[in-house]
Amino acid sequence: MSLPKKIRIVEVGPRDGLQNEKKVISTELKAQFIRDLSDTGHQTIEVTSFVRPDRIPQMSDAKELFPLVRDLDKSADLVCLVPNLKGLELAASLGVKEIAVFTASSDTFNQRNINATISQSFERIEPVIKEALNQGMKVRGYVSTAFGCPYEGYVNPEKVREVAKRLEGLGCYELSLGDTVGTGSPLSVSRALDLILKDIDVSKIALHFHDTRGMALANIMKGLEYGVSVFDASAGGLGGCPYAKGATGNVATEDLVYLCQCLGIDCGVDLDKLTHASRRMLSELGKPTTSKFLQAYSNAKDANESLYLPTP
Ligand code: HMG
Ligand code: MG
Repeated sequence: MSLPKKIRIVEVGPRDGLQNEKKVISTELKAQFIRDLSDTGHQTIEVTSFVRPDRIPQMSDAKELFPLVRDLDKSADLVCLVPNLKGLELAASLGVKEIAVFTASSDTFNQRNINATISQSFERIEPVIKEALNQGMKVRGYVSTAFGCPYEGYVNPEKVREVAKRLEGLGCYELSLGDTVGTGSPLSVSRALDLILKDIDVSKIALHFHDTRGMALANIMKGLEYGVSVFDASAGGLGGCPYAKGATGNVATEDLVYLCQCLGIDCGVDLDKLTHASRRMLSELGKPTTSKFLQAYSNAKDANESLYLPTP
């Protein structure tokens, strides 16, 4: 079995990780978090979203936050989530160079999340992608509920393929398949990839696993076996989805980086620095981490034990 030698992690902690947090985090602390994450070597960081502030209050400081971190775009791609032309206009006015558009493979989730069916969402997204590309931006596309919907349950991989292909056709350079509520399994990942990779080159696929049922790393392993080399992850495992009750955070970046170390895969992220970034934000939130690696690391650190197990 040959796995990719190198992967890219899309760090979604500042956006997906924080968007559901009730405690208001100051803009300066968010900026510090993003700086800390950039310092770990991350090449892609999703920093915020330009959505309706009353829907996602934690992201309502996007206009103030982005200018505080804009200089980091010399070393990392800074991605902002954009739902419509209004969001794009705001993002463009601040010098955002990469956006992510988002839709889903189930209508009910989409209605709750963005007040549009899949087909209505494309009426919105199409002009956003066109305009963003016209302005020289890069556009990433999310397909939520790719491995199950909190309202409709099973999602047919044919639907995922259709939505992903459409986003690709509109000009998205990468399609991130979202396991919004963590119901995916290695088998469903396999079934979806068997189908989708018939149409879309594996280099354009990213996988975005929430770890609600503890399957994220197993699913990533399956993705690696298929040659996928881009994975979304959230520092410390922060996160949840405001429109998917009970969904927990993305796979913790620490756990993914550690998996890479164990497998000899280069992901370019400094694990020690990452633990500092996560611990600082988690302590601000007053939350424990869901990351198994970070738990072990923190326990070992407290007990002055060796922090890492030997890796092959
Ligand atoms: P809508 O209500 O249909 O929009 O919202 P509208 O065009 O009818 O406008 C209504 C009002 O909102 C107007 O204000 C607009 O100006 C304002 P009014 O005239 O009434 O005063 N408005 C905006 N304000 C600021 N920025 C904007 C904006 N757009 C409209 N961009 C919309 C549609 C999509 C905008 C809304 O439903 C929304 O913002 N939803 C939030 C969606 C969201 O952020 N969800 C979480 C992220 S997705 C996710 O987490 C999944 C992912 O991680 C992958 C996975 O895990 O599967 C990506
Ligand atoms: Mg998500």
